[in-house]
Amino acid sequence: VDFGTGDGSFVLRTARRRPDTLVVGVDANGAGLAEASRRALAKPARGGVANALFGVLALEQAPGELVGLADELTVLLPWGSLLAAVARGEALGGLRELCRPDARVCFVLGYAAELDPGAAGLPDLDDAAGLERAYREAGFTVVVRPVTRNDVRALGTTWAQKLAFSPVPRRFVAVRGRVRR
Ligand SMILES: C[S@@+](CC[C@H](N)C(=O)[O-])C[C@H]1O[C@@H](n2cnc3c(N)ncnc32)[C@H](O)[C@@H]1O
Repeated sequence: VDFGTGDGSFVLRTARRRPDTLVVGVDANGAGLAEASRRALAKPARGGVANALFGVLALEQAPGELVGLADELTVLLPWGSLLAAVARGEALGGLRELCRPDARVCFVLGYAAELDPGAAGLPDLDDAAGLERAYREAGFTVVVRPVTRNDVRALGTTWAQKLAFSPVPRRFVAVRGRVRR
């Protein structure tokens, strides 16, 4: 499951690369998913992707129908309340509940606290130990590591391309690990 998937292009690409895996993209904003969803539904000969699925789901309503579904969960370059949750390691119960026990998680986030709207008041991304502790309390065992702009670009999402070339100096971290059984 890719949570906060944006325009769905990451899900389409991942599903094409892993035809044996059901890849689900959800976002609070359904309008952004319309084009990717239409493409997924096309006939295979016309570029359809039968193992890609999209749905509208906000963090605040999670896990919804996805309860216990995910073997892997990604949150890539979120903003808004989704960014606040993964940056603080708080309000993550909905994400944890949509995972199977021992599911793998990978959250990549970044911001310039003084410059990005919505990032004011978020914690210092240098405090990896503090963030790991917050995730532990939320039921995840993770390691927090800084990531470079090149690593961000390599994510290949639409937003990753924008941020990788932005002149604003942002710090990025990856939060990788597992849901605790
Ligand atoms: C910067 S975009 C990144 C989209 C995509 N992951 C990418 O890398 O291209 C952040 C996404 O987070 C979604 N988002 C923000 N708050 C959310 C929430 N509370 N629940 C679900 N999605 C949320 C937004 O709708 C937006 O599509």
